[in-house]
Amino acid sequence: MFKKLLLFTGMSSVLLVGACGSGEDSASTEDLSPGEELYQANSCMGCHGRALEGGTGPNLQDVGNRYTPDEIESIIVNGKGQMRGGLITDQEDLDTIVEWLSSQTEE
Ligand code: HEC
Repeated sequence: MFKKLLLFTGMSSVLLVGACGSGEDSASTEDLSPGEELYQANSCMGCHGRALEGGTGPNLQDVGNRYTPDEIESIIVNGKGQMRGGLITDQEDLDTIVEWLSSQTEE
């Protein structure tokens, strides 16, 4: 009985490690730019839509025409209206997502 239990716990930790590894693989096969990855990973798309088309928050497909990179960064850091700030605090992540959003200039 005790032996069986040991065997079982041993197997399930192998299974857990395997599951983690494959989760990472499937995320990286989506082939997103780092900025878009941050956008999706930090719940921005919950309000602004998967393709920036808008939802609770405004459409961001032409946000690069309406704001300078500094303004976009300040909106993400400080929030605006219903949007709370501080969703992204890492400076490198901020630079990456601000650069990506600034390049969104389609109407
Ligand atoms: C809870 C919903 C919500 C989330 C999550 C959210 N936003 Fe917003 N966002 C809004 C709303 C609502 C506005 C409009 C605020 C206003 O003008 O009063 C806005 C405005 C903006 C603006 C300015 C757009 C404009 O036309 O004025 C930018 C840029 C922006 N959000 C980027 C982001 C990014 C990047 C993230 C993720 C880090 C994010 N948002 C997460 C709701 C959200």
